[in-house]
Parts: sequence; structure tokens; C-alpha cells
Amino acid sequence: FQELALLFQRRHLPPGRYGLPLIRELLWFVIGNKMDFFAERKKKWGAIFNVSIPFTATILSEQEDLQWLFQMERKGFIKISWPATVVATLGPNAIANVFGEQHRRLRAFFQPWFSPAFVENYLGVIDVTVQEELKEWATLSSSSTLSSDVFKLFALRLFFAASFGKVDEQMLITFHDDFKTWLDGFISITGTVRVPGTRFDQAMAARERILTTIDHLIDQFEKENPEGSDLAENTVLGRCVYASGEDGLCPDRSQLKDGLLNIIFAGHDTTTGAMGSAIYHLAHQSVARDALLEEINNLFSKSTGLDMEKLKSAPVLNAIIWETMRVDPPVLAGPRRTEQELVYKNFRFPMNSLIFYSISLAATDPNAYEHRPLEFDFRRFLPKDHKLYDPTIWNHKESRDIVDPAQGRANYPIFGGGSRICLGKHFALLELRVFLVRLFQNYELSVENGTKAWLPINTWNVNFQLLKKTT
Ligand code: HEM
Repeated sequence: FQELALLFQRRHLPPGRYGLPLIRELLWFVIGNKMDFFAERKKKWGAIFNVSIPFTATILSEQEDLQWLFQMERKGFIKISWPATVVATLGPNAIANVFGEQHRRLRAFFQPWFSPAFVENYLGVIDVTVQEELKEWATLSSSSTLSSDVFKLFALRLFFAASFGKVDEQMLITFHDDFKTWLDGFISITGTVRVPGTRFDQAMAARERILTTIDHLIDQFEKENPEGSDLAENTVLGRCVYASGEDGLCPDRSQLKDGLLNIIFAGHDTTTGAMGSAIYHLAHQSVARDALLEEINNLFSKSTGLDMEKLKSAPVLNAIIWETMRVDPPVLAGPRRTEQELVYKNFRFPMNSLIFYSISLAATDPNAYEHRPLEFDFRRFLPKDHKLYDPTIWNHKESRDIVDPAQGRANYPIFGGGSRICLGKHFALLELRVFLVRLFQNYELSVENGTKAWLPINTWNVNFQLLKKTT
């Protein structure tokens, strides 16, 4: 009877595995390649399928399914759903933890400082920070290994420099250490119970230290930068201190602190992963590397600042960035939960079902990317009139919108979609563009056995050397 009852309950549920996970599946998921894991299941069950790893979740993997999910989210029928440990470590006022009107207002408050027009203000400081960092790497990497940790500190430095106006190195290093401890607590076997000495307990203690640092930064900023001054007008901290929200009200201090922590977190491993993956692909793909070098030499001068418009429209540079993140998405999937029973494509999603929209599967879907969807080939994103664009290979379906394939394109959901689309997308793209231009303009890159940075939250090593070019 129990079996029959289960069968009845499972009527019209998406196909796939339910209940206890198979040991083989669990092992594959935990220690194997997660992208292969999900791709195999999609092949077996179809575009919408269920996994049990060990929690049960439905995976959506094609563009129209993602569009449906984003629509349902806008209507409030589906909500973001992080594990309780992530909710607690991020904090009650984090952008990722709030919903509806509160979410909209918090985003609206920060959004202007991450708009395409505004991020141009960060170009100069990002350029200087990148060049200094690369100089440092060229001395460091004589021992030839740069670990993801170096990239992570770099991502943090970039964010601090651009958003806060300056970087206190000692504070940055302490912040980085606390940040690592804090991130480790996202997954904890004790859940949200603060057993002294556990990862979660240490993460919550690190969170308190980080928030105290942010508090101090805000106070200090206010003291040093009066209203109307350059930094007050042009930095994220300036916005937090002096700006008001839609109705003249500013988020309170605790909302600001959680908001900032969320923004720092969201831009940290993601930017790190994208930079590491770009280096990996460029080191292995001589056609891409040569084309990038040629373009950089033609478009950008070593001795002057970079031009934003050229950075945004350089065809090879941008095609390489789009393609890097398409084959190695810095965020693999987004977690959601149904707020009520929903029916889609004849499948029933009971209330409280966990759903992941799979960024990696949608971005490698053979219906959207017909030619070798799993392989890195930046040429798919080149404009039609580029000399490396071959119309007999590329049908140009993928590169319809060359300027920004992420603009409302559900087959390129690298920055998510709908009401929670990445807030820092333009900032991230600016960082990546400047980083690649200054790297290839000034240095030779030699990579030995680099590990692919396909899963940014893992630690990885990119074994490479930077050799300063003499000309
Ligand atoms: C959200 C990707 C960099 C801030 C997201 C989401 C994705 C994403 C996929 C949606 C998550 C979901 O639907 O659950 C990326 C990638 C990046 C990047 C690929 C770099 C290559 C950044 C940077 C910042 C940032 C640099 C900030 C400076 C945010 C914030 C959210 C978000 C605040 C939450 C939005 C919300 O819940 O309303 N990002 N991100 N991201 N991102 Fe990014």
C-alpha cells in the first residue's frame, strides 16, 4: 500500500530519482565532475528531471524552462531557497535573503552604483589596481604556482579599491582570512546550531568580525569624505553614507552591512573563477590567444588609460570572456523553492519543491549552441564581419546579440535572470576586460599543468609564470 501511495503521490512529477540516493550517484556527485553528473541525467531523463543527492531536487535545464522559473519568481510563486546555514551566515538583511518589496527596494538602493554608466567611474582605479597586482604576480610566480587564494585576495582588493575608494592592506588581509572562515561555514554538519569550535560557530564569529570592520569602514569614510566630495559621490560607501532610497529613506546600518557583505560575497568567488578559467583557456588555445594579442595591440596603448567603449566592443576580448563563462560558468545553478503547487509542461511541482535552474546545462544546450556545445570556441561569439568568423560553421544563432549575449537571453543565463539577475554584472565584466587586456599587453603567460577552475568554490591552482615583455 505504501508503494501504491508513493506511486500516486508521484503522478506527474518530473522523471528521475526520488527517495534515498544510490551510493554510486552520491559518490559521483560529491567527488566527481558535477557538470558531467547533471549532463548524464539530462540525457537519461530529459530536460526537466529529478535528482536525489542526498536532498531531492528538480533540475531545469533549458532556456524556456528557465524563463518560466523567472516568471514564476516575479509573481511570487517561486522563491530563492538557500540552506539555513547560508541564510544565517549571509544575514537576515542580505539581498539574497529578502523577498518581494524589501528585495526590490534594497536592489534599487544599490543598483545605481552598479549600472553600466556608473561603473565607468571605477575604470581608472581598477586599471591601476590590476597593473599593480600583475607586477606583483610577475615577481611571485617565479616559483610558478598561483593558487586560487591569490586570485581571491585580488578580487577582494579590486572590489575594495573601486567601491570603498582605498584599500588598507593590513585590513584587507585580515578581512580575507575572516572571509574564508565565514565561507567555510556555508556547509556545516551541525546545521545552524552554534556548537563551539565547529565550522558554523567559527563562521558566525568571523561574520561578527567582518561586520565590525564594515561598520568601522563606514564611520571612517564618513569622517574623511564630506558630502559632495569626489569619493562621496563615486563610491559604494559614499552611496551608503549619503544617499537615500526611493522615498528619501536609507536602509539602516544593519541592512547596509548585510547588503555590503552580500555584494562582496557575490562578487568574490565568481570573479575569481572567471579570471582563472580565462587564463586556463587562453593558455591552451593558441588561436584565441593570438587573436586576443593582435586585437589588444591594435586597440589599446600600454602607456595611456583604457577606453571604456573600446573595452566593451573589442570583439575578440568579449567573445573570449563570454565563451569562458559559457563553458565554465562561475555559478553553476540557482536554488529556488515553490511557494504553492505549480504545473508546468504537464509536470506537477508540489508546494515546497526544491528546484535548481541549471546555468551550466542551459549554457551548453545543443539546441541553443549547435556546434560542439561543450567545447571552448570563442569564435561562436564573434561578429559576422570578423575575419575569424566562419559562417559555414556558426549559424550565428548564438551570437545574435554580440554586444551582450547575457542581455535577456535565457540560453546565456551566466548572470542569472529575472528579478535576481546579477547586480554586479557590469562591474564584473569591467574587471575581467581590464584584467585580460593588461595581462596580455604586458606579460607572456606560460602555464604548466594548470588545474581548470571550473568550480570556483573549490581551491585550485593555476601553475603559471608571468614574464614581463620587453617591448
Ligand atoms: C546574483 C553570477 C559577479 C553581485 C547573481 C546570480 C548569478 C550571478 C548567476 C543569480 C543567482 C540566483 O539567481 O540565485 C555572477 C557572475 C559573476 C558575478 C558569473 C562574475 C563573473 C558579481 C559581482 C557582484 C555581484 C562582481 C558585486 C559587485 C551580485 C548580487 C546578486 C548576484 C548582489 C544577488 C542578486 C539578488 O538576489 O537580487 N550573480 N555574478 N555579482 N550577484 Fe553576481
